[in-house]
Amino acid sequence: MNISLVTLFPQLYKPFLDASLIGRARQSGSITTDLINLLDLTEPKKRIDSPTVGPGTGMLIKPEIMQKAIDIQQEKYGRAFRIFFSPQGKKIDQQLLKELAPIIQQQEHLMLIASRYEGIDARIEEEYADIVLSLGDFVLMGGDIPAMAFLEGILRLIPGIVGKLESVEKDSFTGPWVDYPEYTLPVEWHGHKIPEIVQSGNHAAIEQWRLDQAAQKTVIGHFQWLRSWALKDKQKELAARYIPSHYMVLMHDQMRLKDGRIGTTSVTTMDIHDIARSCRTYGIKNFFISTPLIDQRTIVQTLLDFWQSDEGIRYNSHRHQAIRNVCLTESFEETVKYIEEKEGKKPIVIATSAQYHELPVLSYSDQQKVWEQSRPVLILLGTAHGISNTVLEQCNYMLAPIEGFTDFNHLAVRSAAGIILDRWLGINPRFFQLAKE
Ligand SMILES: C[S@@+](CC[C@H](N)C(=O)[O-])C[C@H]1O[C@@H](n2cnc3c(N)ncnc32)[C@H](O)[C@@H]1O
Repeated sequence: MNISLVTLFPQLYKPFLDASLIGRARQSGSITTDLINLLDLTEPKKRIDSPTVGPGTGMLIKPEIMQKAIDIQQEKYGRAFRIFFSPQGKKIDQQLLKELAPIIQQQEHLMLIASRYEGIDARIEEEYADIVLSLGDFVLMGGDIPAMAFLEGILRLIPGIVGKLESVEKDSFTGPWVDYPEYTLPVEWHGHKIPEIVQSGNHAAIEQWRLDQAAQKTVIGHFQWLRSWALKDKQKELAARYIPSHYMVLMHDQMRLKDGRIGTTSVTTMDIHDIARSCRTYGIKNFFISTPLIDQRTIVQTLLDFWQSDEGIRYNSHRHQAIRNVCLTESFEETVKYIEEKEGKKPIVIATSAQYHELPVLSYSDQQKVWEQSRPVLILLGTAHGISNTVLEQCNYMLAPIEGFTDFNHLAVRSAAGIILDRWLGINPRFFQLAKE
């Protein structure tokens, strides 16, 4: 395969192409590379760029220069698979590289086109791009680093270039997990020892330790990646071990009422049923209904007694499974105390609300911020007009309000609970594992 590299700065590529595995692949002849300097293609005394049409100050590479570069290279090596680089392109990740590798492997000619300035005339990509790739959501001065990064990523997936394909298949982001920690000699360095188990020689135990380490690192540091996989039951079980215990409470006390006063609200049996089922789905350890009112507590207790009884199990075992984790508490304080006694640590309390309050706001990608504190988590749901300031003051964070692209977000608490749990703890797969994997 020949790789044409179209650029304004060929000098950036020269040491890169000579080094390491790419250098070796060039030496062995498994790839050839051809650098095209766009500046060589301009007419004498003519500029390579011209100003953007319409308001704005940017300079763009002229389309006819790019066209010339592509034509010359295709005449030499045949039709190329043409990749452009732009922050607006498809983001490169390991799965995208995996999808592209077999396509690239079949090509006789690959062309990587790096632009500079404000970019290129939009019609060039329209005409020539087989794919436009981005290195990430940030803007560099040019596409050369993205082109080199892509080349390193893709060539190591093409058999015969990287050597052992087996080592590539075990890397981070090849599946749901990131890589486990690895060590080399000496056994002790700067007071840090290689874990005993890694030195044990017990291969099965080492494999298990590595899997556990990978799972822990992935859950805490790369949860967005992990949740983008359709996980198998065993993988879910393993991941769940490293998600700190979560609890949810539906508050009926110290709520803001319609007339602005602070008071109690009535329990709704449908909320108990529906939120309990959501809690069971997302692995919430206990769902608390918190009310100090005796008659309200009697209603809840009657419901719980039935569904937690043998008769309840026989009547509907799924409903029983959900409701057996429901607990009745008198207040916010009692709920926190219950968790603290059970877990041996005070929970991190996260409020939820339809509006912003004076609390640090968590996005639904901020799990690491909370989970790395290794404490249980309590998510608070309000009723009536929301959680009062006296309770909000005892919260550590609030989750960003749920919103659509409208001016309305007054959701029923049971709907909100489902959305909150799914966004915070749910799996949302983009990647699907084959049965044999
Ligand atoms: C200054 S950038 C142009 C940015 C463009 N105006 C925008 O906002 O999307 C110039 C060139 O650098 C390259 N480039 C910059 N950031 C990139 C990224 N994150 N991924 C891929 N290419 C990038 C592209 O080739 C781009 O055309």
